Amino acid sequence: MLAKIFLELTEFSWFRRIAWKPIYNHLAKKFPFEDWVFMNYGFEPDDPSTRPQLLENDEPDRYPLQLYHFLATQTEVAGKQMLEVGSGRGGGASYIARYLKPAEIIGMDIADNAVEFANKRHQSPNLRYVAGNAENIPFEDGRFDVVINVESSHAYGSVANFFAEVKRVLRPGGYFVITDMRDPKNLPAFEETLLGSGLHLVGKKVISPNVVKAIELEDDLKRARISRQVPARYVKMIEEFGGVKGSQIDKNLRSGSLVYFWYVLKK
Ligand SMILES: C[S@@+](CC[C@H](N)C(=O)[O-])C[C@H]1O[C@@H](n2cnc3c(N)ncnc32)[C@H](O)[C@@H]1O
Repeated sequence: MLAKIFLELTEFSWFRRIAWKPIYNHLAKKFPFEDWVFMNYGFEPDDPSTRPQLLENDEPDRYPLQLYHFLATQTEVAGKQMLEVGSGRGGGASYIARYLKPAEIIGMDIADNAVEFANKRHQSPNLRYVAGNAENIPFEDGRFDVVINVESSHAYGSVANFFAEVKRVLRPGGYFVITDMRDPKNLPAFEETLLGSGLHLVGKKVISPNVVKAIELEDDLKRARISRQVPARYVKMIEEFGGVKGSQIDKNLRSGSLVYFWYVLKK
């Protein structure tokens, strides 16, 4: 019942603005586990032979990491200046920094505790994390070649403000890659706002089947990790939040009442 009321309230921008920051701050403080570095539902490619080769240490995070890999490789990032908006516990920006070799990637998140966790947990010479709001990005105009955004935009008060900020901090010719999910009834308005920003569409894809596949493949590992780390009274809640097989997210993606997508745009 409470979860249903919460979800209904997230339709309102004022509620999203006040609700998500304390939730992600609380999660970072309450569960400071070193090996929990991603907070997305993952991705498995149609052709498994295209999976990235990973170091042994990164194998347990294969599926959430693949969401970053396949989105980031929609454009050239090697040697570029990159910004991640909504970097969470930092695993995605760390993967990009180490494997895809941008000149620099800065992960930015509104939850200060998550930023503090990420700065302690991930080290690479071309990587750092800062606190900041997607609707008011703390960088100068034209600072970045690529902006990446993973499973975060649903939490913003105004995606129109966010897209305007992305356009401002991108250099001319720079790329914006975004992946997230929406109720299909809200997708046309989302796309209209995205294209209304003045960024030019390069490509788009519905990836719900790839996310559902990842949820399935990661399930045993995810459940084992949660039951090992989380006190028994929180297990059900974190399993729902983490999107185990049979969770509401999993059901909604399977039924089509939620659509997971990515877009690639150019300034
Ligand atoms: C589901 S998590 C995804 C984190 C990360 N992208 C990943 O895939 O592991 C969403 C993240 O967006 C962040 N976020 C929410 N609202 C934000 C805002 N207005 N500005 C910046 N980050 C925000 C949250 O604090 C959270 O870390």
